[in-house]
Parts: sequence; structure tokens; C-alpha cells
Amino acid sequence: MTILVTGATGRVGRAVVTALLRAGRPVRALTRAPVTADLPEGVAVYQGDLEDPASLAAALEGADLLYLFPVPSTAREVVAMAERAGVRRAVVLSGALADEESADDEDGYGAVERAVQASGLDWTIVRPGEFAGNWLDYAPDVRARREVRRPFGNAVSRPTHEADVADVVAASLLGEGHSGQVYTFGGPEALTVAEQVRRIGAAIGAEVRFVELTPEQARMEWYDLDQGVDHDVIDWLLDMYGASVDGPETVPPSDTVERVTGSPPRDFAQWAADHADDFR
Ligand SMILES: NC(=O)c1ccc[n+]([C@@H]2O[C@H](COP(=O)([O-])OP(=O)(O)OC[C@H]3O[C@@H](n4cnc5c(N)ncnc54)[C@H](OP(=O)(O)O)[C@@H]3O)[C@@H](O)[C@H]2O)c1
Repeated sequence: MTILVTGATGRVGRAVVTALLRAGRPVRALTRAPVTADLPEGVAVYQGDLEDPASLAAALEGADLLYLFPVPSTAREVVAMAERAGVRRAVVLSGALADEESADDEDGYGAVERAVQASGLDWTIVRPGEFAGNWLDYAPDVRARREVRRPFGNAVSRPTHEADVADVVAASLLGEGHSGQVYTFGGPEALTVAEQVRRIGAAIGAEVRFVELTPEQARMEWYDLDQGVDHDVIDWLLDMYGASVDGPETVPPSDTVERVTGSPPRDFAQWAADHADDFR
């Protein structure tokens, strides 16, 4: 039973590859850049670009199962190709915010979800909440100045360990009873931003200063970073963080991870310990 992992060099994708290898399964990994992919021994690496479905032909040929990284613009075509190639089951990475999208949004998670739901494949949709891994964006500041500058120190989220997302994906690929399921989950604890910063500090054995920016200061600093992030996206992020101060949780507590994988979800201290070297 051959499994194709797309997005295989990503945070979730790498963890999916690890989980499948641990289960003793043959893994194919898709990347646009095989030379720099640095994937584990034993993985068959295929070059392909999800934005160019024709480039996936060789990787899909003979694959039975598919982990699909979400690229909305081509999802329908990629799923159709997978079906024609003989793939039986696809597990799709989506996000907990999928429910907040409008039903005809062609650029969001829904487009990818609808593509598998309309196909003849067995499908499972995995909708994690905010990734703990988003903190890696702040790793350079923590390394250089032991400092995090962010707005909304009291905003609450349930940071989700990428290994839990990957374990849910792997269980859905390899186990039975997951067909037609939509798994929504976050991490086990609801924590403020300031508390998450404290826990990163605890993991590296150093105090990490939290500098709370006003939303306006954050807007200016993030606009200035010029990392190719659209100003509209920055405004949307600020609205979302602001709404999570004293607001309802976007991802309510659930037993999904334990029910699907048999193990409780990893907490944020665990995530920070697993990534301590990134922040030291
Ligand atoms: N961040 C969050 O809080 C959050 C929460 C819920 C859901 N999500 C979803 O999770 C996704 C991120 O997952 P992740 O953290 O595992 O990814 P990631 O670390 O951002 O890496 C994405 C990987 O996908 C591959 N990729 C990107 N575009 C591709 C394309 N056109 N064709 C082939 N491969 C492509 C890249 O591999 P190569 O460069 O090697 O080709 C890259 O390694 C987001 O895009 C979002 O949809 C995120």
C-alpha cells in the first residue's frame, strides 16, 4: 500500500512522513525542490507542483492513499487525477476556520474540502486550529533579543502541535472508520499569548520578554516587514486576534485527537521543548 504525502517538506507533512515510516509503510513524498528537501532515508522523493497538476502524474501513478496539502486553485483537478490514477483514499489538511468561510469562497479551505467530497474517493478532512508552529516566526527575535513583540497579550488560543495533526492524518490514512469524517481540534490547553511566551522561555531556560504592541503599532511593524504578506491579511489577522481577547474560543475543547489516535494531544510545553533549539 503506497502512500503519497504532498506538502512533505512542511511542518505537518514532515511529521506525517515520520508517522507513516514509524508505521512501516512505504512513503512517497512530493516536493517542488527534491535537491533541498532533506527527507528521511527510505522515502521515495517525487518532484511536482500542486499548482501544476500534470506534474503530479508520476507521483500519483500506483499510489493507494494520499495526504493532500491544501492548494485551493487546483484541488479539483488534483483530486480527479488521483482518482483516475487509482488512489482510494485522501486525507485533506484543512483548518478550523473553514466553517467561517463563505460557501462559494474558491480560495479557502472549503474549495479543497468540496473537491474531495464531490469525488469518488474515500475522504477524511482534518481541521486543526492555530498551529503552535506559528511561533517559529518569532524564533529569530527570541534568539537575537529574547523578545517577542505582538499585540493582544490576552488573546487566547489552543496551540496545536504539528505532530498531533500528523498523527490524526496518519490514523485516518491507515485505519478504518474515518471515511466521511471531519475532524476539528485544537491543542489541549487554552492559553493567552503572554502565557505561551512564558512557556517558550521555560523551555529554553531563559526569560523571554513579551512586549505588547497596540494594534496600530503591530500593523505598522508588520506592514514594514515586507515579507510578501498582503496588508488585507494583516488586517484580518489583527481582527481575529483582537476577537479572541475575552471572546468565544474558535476551537472548543474536544477529545478528537485521543479518540482518533489513541493518545492525548501534546501540550504547549511539549511543543516548546520539542522546538527549544529553534529558540535558543
Ligand atoms: N498556520 C496555522 O495556524 C494553520 C492552522 C490550520 C490549518 N493550516 C493549514 O496548514 C497549512 C500549512 O501546513 P504546514 O505547516 O505543514 O506547511 P508549511 O510548513 O507551510 O509547508 C508547506 C509545504 O507545502 C509544500 N507546498 C506549498 N505549495 C506547494 C505547491 N504548489 N506544490 C507542491 N508543494 C507545495 C511546500 O513544499 P516544497 O517547497 O518542498 O514544495 C512546503 O514544504 C496552511 O497552508 C494552512 O492551509 C494552518
